[in-house]
Amino acid sequence: MSTPSNDDPRLDQAAASDESLLAVHEKILGAQADEAGRYRLLPLNLLFAFSGLIFFGGTYLNLYSGHFDPHIYDERALPHKGGDEVVKVDPVVFGKKLFNNATCNTCHQVNGLGLPGVFPPLVGSEWVTGSEERLIRVVLHGLQGPVTVNGVVFPGTAPMPAFGKVAGSGYNWSDDKIAAVLTYIRQEWGNTAGPITTEQVAAIHSKEGDRKAWTADELSKLP
Ligand code: HEC
Repeated sequence: MSTPSNDDPRLDQAAASDESLLAVHEKILGAQADEAGRYRLLPLNLLFAFSGLIFFGGTYLNLYSGHFDPHIYDERALPHKGGDEVVKVDPVVFGKKLFNNATCNTCHQVNGLGLPGVFPPLVGSEWVTGSEERLIRVVLHGLQGPVTVNGVVFPGTAPMPAFGKVAGSGYNWSDDKIAAVLTYIRQEWGNTAGPITTEQVAAIHSKEGDRKAWTADELSKLP
């Protein structure tokens, strides 16, 4: 503890009157407002400047971004002319996909050879490479009962299901799907018959409409 010397300001304070104390406090409080000046609001003109920049940036992107179109920004993108061209699908490629997508292949097998005594082969079958109209009917409406394929009689223990958009079909394939799968099986595994068009399938479809599965007998009487 040191004894305060005579020029200690606290000695003056001890002798201060109420008025002089208030005056000093007022002075101090006034100074505090100045200290808080560090947290002053953003100057208004700076706020206007930044708003102006953001507005300009937005307008610029809106006008010149090209809607971020990949054809402008991706140098590897293919040019396109409005999107109204029809993409041509190779029916053989499409048909192969359809055939092997847990459909025909589950019975006739991927190699088209079927299973002896149950599922007849499509390889070298006169049903496949012969009359187009009969073949379309088989896949549109199905086939049941005994059938002879490549000289072998299949007793018809299992029926061939209907694939067309016909009553009782679990598949409801469109005419162009049927045309594609038939075009595929007519030229696969060494088969060399011509393609089948969607129009051909549609013609038989509208002629026969909904009906039950064909028998080989019925079909042999048709062209
Ligand atoms: C559920 C098994 C099954 C599926 C799936 C199936 N078939 Fe068949 N298919 C048969 C059976 C069984 C026969 C013989 C029917 C009979 O005995 O009358 C047959 C007969 C055929 C025939 C005539 C006989 C021949 O071997 O040439 C063709 C053509 C044919 N199917 C094509 C197809 C095509 C194409 C698909 C797919 C779109 C398909 N099948 C899907 C079971 C099936």
